[in-house]
Amino acid sequence: MSVKIISKSGVKTRNTGEKLAGLLKPGSLVLLSGDLGAGKTVFVQGLCKGLGVRDHVTSPTFALINTYRGTFPKTGETAFIVHCDAYRLGSPEDLYDAGFFDFGEDAVLICEWYENVFAKKNEPGSIVINILRRDDISANYREITISAEGEEGKAVEAAFH
Ligand SMILES: Nc1ncnc2c1ncn2[C@@H]1O[C@H](COP(=O)(O)OP(=O)(O)O)[C@@H](O)[C@H]1O
Ligand SMILES: [Mg+2]
Repeated sequence: MSVKIISKSGVKTRNTGEKLAGLLKPGSLVLLSGDLGAGKTVFVQGLCKGLGVRDHVTSPTFALINTYRGTFPKTGETAFIVHCDAYRLGSPEDLYDAGFFDFGEDAVLICEWYENVFAKKNEPGSIVINILRRDDISANYREITISAEGEEGKAVEAAFH
């Protein structure tokens, strides 16, 4: 299942991420694709805001991985968030080496440029976000597609339709 959202501003993209945070739970995997400057990190900033993260969320392009602590809005449970930017990575092993999977099965895993490191387009249970720049329409115009299967897919459809 997938939903498409039109965004004409960073604020809208951030708010969309914040809304998606309401669907996340321990062990959620969020995979983002889209060109440089599409708005992946802006979306993740919204996700983290929705998870009650107080730290300033920045692109981990050089650090590879940033971690944050937040709270799941529905349950009040503590959320541990791992945010990776795989722009400079090239294989699944790189992701392991970067320590992406070292934080336990309850961590929320978020990966920008996931297509560089995940073998499959549809990791089971993942929520996949593609952000397409539409410079042909206007400088700030983006098409955000959120795709997921099964339970996650139903939740995405219910929340965004
Ligand atoms: N509709 C929009 N959605 C998201 N970002 C936008 C939008 N319009 C303009 N921008 C700008 O595009 C840039 C996106 O940057 P960033 O999130 O770091 O991209 P990425 O992580 O995909 O490389 C920001 O400077 C943001 O202000
Ligand atoms: Mg980024």
